[in-house]
Amino acid sequence: MAASADTTTTTPSCTLAGRIALVTGGGSGIGRACCQVLAREGAQVVVADINLQAAKHTLTLMPGGQRHVAVAMDVRERSSVEDAMKSAQDQCGAPPSLLGTFLVTQAFATSLLEHGKDSKGAIVNISSLAGKTGCAELSGYTASKGGVISLTKTCAAELASKAIRVNCVLPAVIDTPILAGASEEVLEYYNRLTPLGRRGRPEKVAEVVAFLLSERSSYMVGACVEVTGGCDM
Ligand SMILES: NC(=O)c1ccc[n+]([C@@H]2O[C@H](COP(=O)([O-])OP(=O)(O)OC[C@H]3O[C@@H](n4cnc5c(N)ncnc54)[C@H](O)[C@@H]3O)[C@@H](O)[C@H]2O)c1
Repeated sequence: MAASADTTTTTPSCTLAGRIALVTGGGSGIGRACCQVLAREGAQVVVADINLQAAKHTLTLMPGGQRHVAVAMDVRERSSVEDAMKSAQDQCGAPPSLLGTFLVTQAFATSLLEHGKDSKGAIVNISSLAGKTGCAELSGYTASKGGVISLTKTCAAELASKAIRVNCVLPAVIDTPILAGASEEVLEYYNRLTPLGRRGRPEKVAEVVAFLLSERSSYMVGACVEVTGGCDM
């Protein structure tokens, strides 16, 4: 993943040592867990979130907190994405790799390609199992998550020859603040649909993300990896 920039604190045994990772939505839930796991794996992490305070709080929960940075980014606004990308590049000395969708993918790929022809990168988008299966009464959400799957495959096809791999993960029901509005009845229903019988922890998604960003997955391109406990197979 990421531009192979030099960072000062790297551990050779770590799978992402020497890499720079940008995590959108890093202020909570799955994004926060990704920041923690990527930092543990040796990456310098740029924690991006619409809520800068939440991003700064994530910094305090990460190993090696002082070498990571927090930036404000609204992924819906092109200028916000570009400003945050520039700020991240200024602070880290190279373009980061990332999690995100269209604007972020576009800004990242442009930034990486401008950085030099030898730069390598990886992108992991967060879709949802619901983007593949659909879900009654969630048409907007499922359509957008289905879009993340097709965008992943399209970008993967376009960028593979430029040494940027693009993959995505499809979580099912993961314990994060996003579930705050769900009733016990609904949560129990999904537990019954899940062979493991329970919801996932955000760290379980983050471990797969770290794998997809590392060289250990160097032959994976355009893959959509389910992290679901077997939910709704
Ligand atoms: N938790 C689940 O069960 C689950 C399942 C499938 C997919 N997902 C997906 O995983 C991703 C993360 O979800 P989560 O459960 O960690 O949610 P969360 O609510 O815990 O975290 C979302 C984070 O994104 C930030 N954010 C919101 N809008 C933003 C914007 N416009 N620009 C930048 N940052 C913004 C929020 O401030 C927050 O820190 C989402 O795309 C979600 O759809 C979650």
